[in-house]
Amino acid sequence: MSRLRSAMDKGKRVGLQIVETVKPKRKKSKTAVKEEETNASPSSTYHSFHDPADVLLLRSQLLNWYDKDKRELPWRTLALTESDLNIRTYAVWVSEIMLQQTQVATVIDYYNRWMKRWPTVQDLATATLEEVNQMWAGLGYYSRGRRLHEGAQKVVSELKGQMPCTVDSLLKQLPGVGRYTAAAIGSIALGQVTGAVDGNVIRVLCRLRAIGADSTSPAVTEALWSLANTLVAPERPGDFNQVMMELGARVCTPKAPLCSQCPVRSHCHSYCKVQVKQEKNSKKLLGKPDRKTSALPDIEDCSRSSHSGACLLCPSEPWDHELGVQNFPRKPAKKPPRTERTLTCVVMRPGEEGKAEFLLTQRPNKGLLAGLWEFPSLLLEEKSPEMKQKRALCAEVSRILGTHLTDSLFQYVGEVVHIFSHIHQTYVVHSVCLKGGGAHTQTENAQWLTGCALQEAAVSTGVKKILKLYDAVHGQKEQASKEGKGQKRAGIKNDKRPQTAKKTKLSAASSGGKQLSLSSFFNTVKQES
Ligand code: ADE
Repeated sequence: MSRLRSAMDKGKRVGLQIVETVKPKRKKSKTAVKEEETNASPSSTYHSFHDPADVLLLRSQLLNWYDKDKRELPWRTLALTESDLNIRTYAVWVSEIMLQQTQVATVIDYYNRWMKRWPTVQDLATATLEEVNQMWAGLGYYSRGRRLHEGAQKVVSELKGQMPCTVDSLLKQLPGVGRYTAAAIGSIALGQVTGAVDGNVIRVLCRLRAIGADSTSPAVTEALWSLANTLVAPERPGDFNQVMMELGARVCTPKAPLCSQCPVRSHCHSYCKVQVKQEKNSKKLLGKPDRKTSALPDIEDCSRSSHSGACLLCPSEPWDHELGVQNFPRKPAKKPPRTERTLTCVVMRPGEEGKAEFLLTQRPNKGLLAGLWEFPSLLLEEKSPEMKQKRALCAEVSRILGTHLTDSLFQYVGEVVHIFSHIHQTYVVHSVCLKGGGAHTQTENAQWLTGCALQEAAVSTGVKKILKLYDAVHGQKEQASKEGKGQKRAGIKNDKRPQTAKKTKLSAASSGGKQLSLSSFFNTVKQES
């Protein structure tokens, strides 16, 4: 018996167990085809896997590729080696939350440090939110860390320290855990047989089955989950879901997909479409006749797609030759990010041992960058003149310090652009240098940190970029001042302005057109009590 035959036989058995929607393949009569085309079901079998043998073959091709080619990742190692179910579930939960909007390569280091510091859910529950934010700093989407912390406290206080152990209870009990994350944790840590559909898997499945309708529509979402649940390997659900993600991340990539390296290209309708279209084109070029005589759709097309709007999974736009398999998936056009300008001030004082210290204030506990530390800032109102707002920023810094500063002390430093997923943020940076002593904070949510401490603190990447600009500008001022002094001593005149490190974004400004020497720069500070 051939391997395929035996796979088909096994497939019939396995398929019946796990694939509720699989129907035995039957030759259809003309009337049956007509009925299928005109009834209200959302799609034809073209967009699913209806042959159990195909399902078995696809699983084994994927898992073989995974066994040979998978990346060794710390959470994968833990999921394999950790025998304590509670710790395993916690470890996979942490990894899935970190991976939600962040690339694997970035997550690895954060994950290792996190698991070293808080190896169990109990350890995490005892941490403070400040410590969690500090650990999360730089990873972005800070509410994720907060929810992990909140979830750990809930597990300890309400669930007797036991992590939820089914997909349903993970979904219901843990904040920040949605349908995908619950399925991923359930399959990877607990061996539950469920598909898991994330962004990578959406792409792989849409291409495999030529699903080109809006991938965020309810019909496509349900079709993808149904497909994933059909395909998942019941003996290795966690590995299966991870190989789908891995394939999407490394082979079936959004741009420049590596189809020639894909272990399942023989199942891929998109790949097939590309091949057929290329063949037709080359025949045309060679002047060979196209033998197609029937009005029926091509084998590489959905039988319903010709009925406009009849298939909820087919693309509404025509095939684009240039895009090839990248015709799938289709997303609705993204809303452009809103633009915001924020006035921000680097307030500096000389600290102990002459090290500069910077004033930071804490953001509110809700909303964007909740609980993180930042330089005193003010969202710029479009209509209000910047001068007026600069005065408002001056008043805000004065309030924090319990002193009165005049806005002439505020020097323009430059602009920093930071892009959030939904906001195009420009920080308009000013600075104020204070003399030591007296510059104490008067509010609870403010602190002074050295540049080194700031790098380790719970601050966003935007704050680090602002400090980098500030350092670049001040480094240049310092350098200019030194050179100026040296040149003066040597009797050289030079009115060249120092260049900024990055001219476009890190555009520095001098104080009213004057470059200040470091000493005069510090001396512009007016200490008021
Ligand atoms: N993305 C989400 N979960 C993942 C996992 N377990 N491995 C690799 N990439 C992932």
